[in-house]
Amino acid sequence: MNPNDQANEVTELFRAQTHIYKHMYNFIESMALKSALQLTIPDIIHNHNKPISLIDLASALNVPPANTNPLERLMRILVQSGFFAIEQEGYTLTPSSRILLDSSPITLSPTVLAILDPLLVTPWFSLADWLKSEDATVFETHFGMNVWDYGKKKEGFVGLLNDAMASDSRLVSLVVEEHREVFDGLGSLVDVGGGTGTLARVVSEKFPLMDCTVLDLPQVVAELGGSKNLKFVGGDMFQSIPSADAVLIKSVLHNWSDEKCVKILKRCKEAIPKKAGKLILIEMVIDEGKEGGKLGKTRLFVDMEMMMLCGGRERTEKEWEHLFLESGFSCYKIIPTTGLNSIIEVYP
Ligand SMILES: C[S@@+](CC[C@H](N)C(=O)[O-])C[C@H]1O[C@@H](n2cnc3c(N)ncnc32)[C@H](O)[C@@H]1O
Repeated sequence: MNPNDQANEVTELFRAQTHIYKHMYNFIESMALKSALQLTIPDIIHNHNKPISLIDLASALNVPPANTNPLERLMRILVQSGFFAIEQEGYTLTPSSRILLDSSPITLSPTVLAILDPLLVTPWFSLADWLKSEDATVFETHFGMNVWDYGKKKEGFVGLLNDAMASDSRLVSLVVEEHREVFDGLGSLVDVGGGTGTLARVVSEKFPLMDCTVLDLPQVVAELGGSKNLKFVGGDMFQSIPSADAVLIKSVLHNWSDEKCVKILKRCKEAIPKKAGKLILIEMVIDEGKEGGKLGKTRLFVDMEMMMLCGGRERTEKEWEHLFLESGFSCYKIIPTTGLNSIIEVYP
């Protein structure tokens, strides 16, 4: 081998080593982020009202002097991953940490804390075993029961998931303002699997003449109070859905297999007027072939999370189309949003 080829081969090997080490240690980025939230570092920086020095941050956190240097190294990783910036030798917030503030009405902090909770992280250790098993989900291989049964048994688990979904919905509800035309002119709307009603509440406030209903499991909506144009109904979306001009359904179908989705979609179709009704889905659309970018990879991560948790999936446009036609709908329109989700209008 000539010396040039040998040098190239060595360079390639070290590049591969760096690649492997980066991915092997990626979980440290996640854990650093989680620690920052547990320590409420974004709120501390926000409340300081100017760039905060390491010493002031350590003092606000009550970190013993011996741990000032570890704190600096934690912050170095978080600056590198874009959660904080450095200005005038102090730490400041970035757009990503601004939506992690506990004090802000729009915060993704509960979502991060739920996804990185040991209850949702440890099942990943069973991924390989699950692939060789007949179990429906990785979660089941790990905990010996599905996520719904586990929720009935494990105190706090359902609350953890509901808080995460509500925080995601508060952010996603900005699409209602961004795409008012989707909701304009509707006299009534039912949010199927609407959880604690975060999204429906926003719609009902922005459209005070629209009658809004949230349908979710009885135990989810039992204690929830509505308003003049918002009510909560306990029920089962597989059985029947209250009638309305439109059915809204956000981050629900990605929890279910194709077979179950067709059942839900058929119930949705029965609930809306045959001619003028519509279904408004807020879900992800995997962009085949282009999923290498940051947005695309994030959708693939969510797809894996759904697979692990409940045997659900994120879908490509072709897969969505198949579900709509199979459930008796005739056509659809995809409206991309600036975030990870799209709005999909589906017509009878
Ligand atoms: C992933 S959460 C989405 C919640 C909400 N749409 C959001 O985006 O914040 C799925 C929701 O479906 C509800 N759900 C599950 N099975 C249901 C059923 N059979 N009938 C009605 N709702 C159901 C769950 O209770 C949960 O609130």
